[in-house]
Amino acid sequence: MAPIFSILHALPFLVLLPIIAMSREILPLKSSLSVDDYQSDLLRSRDGTFSCGFRAVYDNAFAFSIWYTNTASETVVWTANRGRPVHARGSAVTLHKGGALVLTDYDGTVVWQSDNNSSDVQQARLLDTGNLVMTSSTGMIVWQSFDSPTDTLLPTQHIVATTKLVSANGFHDPGHYMFHFTDSSVLSLIYDDADVHDIYWPDPDDGLYQSKRNRYNSTRMGVLHGNGDFVSSDFADQQPFSASDRGSGIKRRLTLDPDGNLRLYSLDSSNGDWSVSWVAISQPCNIHGLCGPNGICHYSPAPTCSCPPGFEMNNPGNWTQGCKAIVDTSCSVAQVQSVRFVHLPDTDFWGSDQRHVDKISLHACRNICESDCNCRGFQYVIREGTCFPKSFLFNGRAYPSHRSARNMYLKIAGSTNISGMLVPQSNVLDPRKHSRSCHQMDAKTMVPFPDVHRTSQGETRWSYFYGFAAAIFTLEALFIATAWFFVSRWELGSLEIQAVEQGYMMMAISNFRRYNYKELAKATKKFRYELGRGGSGIVYRGALDDGRAVAVKMLENVRQCEEEFQAELRIIGNINHMNLVRIWGFCSENSHRMLVTEYIENGSLANILFDGNILLDWRRRFNIAVGVAKGLAYLHHECLEWVIHCDVKPENILLDKDLEPKIADFGLAKLLSRGGSNQKVSRVRGTIGYIAPEWISSLQITAKVDVYSYGVVLLELVSGKRVLDLAESSGEEVHVLLRKLVKLLASTLLNGDEPSWIEEFVDCRLSGQFNHMQVRTMIKLAVACLDDESSKRPTMESILQLLLLADESCSSNVLR
Ligand SMILES: *[C@@H]1O[C@H](CO)[C@@H](O)[C@H](O)[C@H]1NC(C)=O
Ligand SMILES: *[C@@H]1O[C@H](CO)[C@@H](O)[C@H](O)[C@H]1NC(C)=O
Ligand SMILES: *[C@@H]1O[C@H](CO)[C@@H](O)[C@H](O)[C@H]1NC(C)=O
Ligand SMILES: *[C@@H]1O[C@H](CO)[C@@H](O)[C@H](O)[C@H]1NC(C)=O
Ligand SMILES: *[C@@H]1O[C@H](CO)[C@@H](O)[C@H](O)[C@H]1NC(C)=O
Repeated sequence: MAPIFSILHALPFLVLLPIIAMSREILPLKSSLSVDDYQSDLLRSRDGTFSCGFRAVYDNAFAFSIWYTNTASETVVWTANRGRPVHARGSAVTLHKGGALVLTDYDGTVVWQSDNNSSDVQQARLLDTGNLVMTSSTGMIVWQSFDSPTDTLLPTQHIVATTKLVSANGFHDPGHYMFHFTDSSVLSLIYDDADVHDIYWPDPDDGLYQSKRNRYNSTRMGVLHGNGDFVSSDFADQQPFSASDRGSGIKRRLTLDPDGNLRLYSLDSSNGDWSVSWVAISQPCNIHGLCGPNGICHYSPAPTCSCPPGFEMNNPGNWTQGCKAIVDTSCSVAQVQSVRFVHLPDTDFWGSDQRHVDKISLHACRNICESDCNCRGFQYVIREGTCFPKSFLFNGRAYPSHRSARNMYLKIAGSTNISGMLVPQSNVLDPRKHSRSCHQMDAKTMVPFPDVHRTSQGETRWSYFYGFAAAIFTLEALFIATAWFFVSRWELGSLEIQAVEQGYMMMAISNFRRYNYKELAKATKKFRYELGRGGSGIVYRGALDDGRAVAVKMLENVRQCEEEFQAELRIIGNINHMNLVRIWGFCSENSHRMLVTEYIENGSLANILFDGNILLDWRRRFNIAVGVAKGLAYLHHECLEWVIHCDVKPENILLDKDLEPKIADFGLAKLLSRGGSNQKVSRVRGTIGYIAPEWISSLQITAKVDVYSYGVVLLELVSGKRVLDLAESSGEEVHVLLRKLVKLLASTLLNGDEPSWIEEFVDCRLSGQFNHMQVRTMIKLAVACLDDESSKRPTMESILQLLLLADESCSSNVLR
């Protein structure tokens, strides 16, 4: 996005070319750049990439800036004292003898000056990096513009503890979005105004672990490298964020845009256009403050601000001022009128909780809010019975398709007429939306990759559904309003629209590119190196043009229509977690359907655990159990669309070069949308030995099928043997064997006579080198996971918590 759209500034760069030839690289001591000759009186970097001088921001108003010279639309990367432009006549910037660069207005008022720490300054010079520097006679840099960025960071420019990017608003003034290191040393995006100061990136709902941040490195230093890697001291394992077109020779910038999103841009030098190559927030509604007080951000399908029922826009045309209640219920007037509550399902207003009450009924929560005139509404989480009365409604956001048990109840005056107003809802990622033209949806569709020789024959129809919703409806009926309709257009300036839409585009394409068949044929050297094959297709190894090693999976038996195939992959493609195999893109051309994923060096857990030359020591096995639990917990509970894997087994757990586990093939069993009930879902086939009993008896499928399979994997990690082999050698059906095994394990755990017995069960290749407490935890979990009754199995979230507990409490003890 180009930061400036006004026609005033759209000086075609072609006009500037001859002028640039006259401009200079150096501003000597005691000389000036004058606004009167702003077109020719410029500094220019030696290679011509950057220019520095005066730019018009309005009629008769200029700013002293640095910009990219040859871009289609003006791209300012730095400005002195934004928000205080100078007059079009008589203003100048001068390098004074004392060593300061001083910007004066027409009447001599000093509008800005560089801090001067040296009287020895000889010149100011614009470097090829876009850095305006003042150097002393010895060539030392005594001041540089890189130390005081505005909203843009250029390659090689550092962001340190004291630097801060601040977004511009539509009028070239500083906006409310900031990018800097917080006190806890985490590089963050922050919304900041008089009432609110919120971090919105990394996602405040994620732990720092999940957002891959490290708060213990107080170095506080980040830098964008020329190749498109952005590294920072708080990135765990020093893993950078990278541009999608990673590589050198491309001009880039990292800009905190007016819409509060941080984007990395690459310049297409052939036409001077910028394209987004990385974005911090792929779903614009996660950005705080976009829709102002009481406003709700939702996808319809483009990101949109709307007022909830009973509210109207404060200032039509300006969403930063949000919405106001049609009938005021604030403390000054509340006494004299009755209030009621409107229910906004899947909606939350982040922050401003007055308090937090656990395990109470919806009715009690409502009473708390009703009796407090400062309470504007409350959030009620059904599962936990948690109540959050709120004193201020900000950062409103509607979540897509029943992602969570979030329920927002807004207080409105009893007299407000809200009939005919709809609740703002999000549906952009709802796969049902894309499937209207797909008639074969419930016919045979995509088959996940089962092991060819170990596949169940029984094909059953599954319906997924989300169970708990019905129970609360009776209660709600007391004060629920009928549906309303109120969808306002997204009415930010064109600048914001463009930025937001780009964010939205990125949401659709960011991690996820479409490749054509030729590209993939080339990448795989005409499909030469086969990595493996399963029921759904063959996997080939390849390398993309940018050097990334990839696995290309040629899918067979995909009978979904194109549109649905893409809609589903678009969601999977956005799932990004360190314990899930990253999907880079897909190919859908004629009859070809292919997935392009990251290549994982060490192959599958099955290969290594059962047949491999590498002996996995206990620490690694435990680490794999934890990693897989993290990946599954993310799929089940955290990502935007909850996903059931449906085929968890060691063949689908890949190990990278550090033997970190990454789950493959998630999402292929068709995405689970928890919205609505009885959604038709394609037949999926799991793998015998790992499939839960309810799978066979065609009961409802829930995330608990993965929990069951995970339990089997835990047993295999501990024993080092396939349960199928165990079954074969004992001549039993695998389910029967597992049931017996679970019984045995459970009673052993109960009797407490495990020490000798554990030695026997644990893989003998470990020669007794393992942690008893962790083995015990894993066996206990396996027993719980393998419960025949799916509702009694733990969730992946609680499994993960128990494992982490076992991890921490033993980390100080030395393994025996
Ligand atoms: C910077 O130099 C100006 C004169 O050029 C002087 O008035 C001002 O006090 C100096 N500031 C500092 C911080 O030294
Ligand atoms: C001023 O310069 C000296 C040495 O050149 C340096 O040590 C000091 O940190 C500088 N002070 C500021 C405020 O930049
Ligand atoms: C902290 O960050 C710096 C800069 O990225 C890095 O060199 C250093 O190794 C990190 N320290 C730790 C303890 O991770
Ligand atoms: C919107 O309102 C805010 C806050 O009152 C104000 O600062 C801003 O200039 C307004 N924007 C527009 C486009 O009117
Ligand atoms: C409420 O509004 C609807 C539609 O705007 C209207 O038809 C209805 O008559 C109103 N009801 C009252 C009681 O004013």
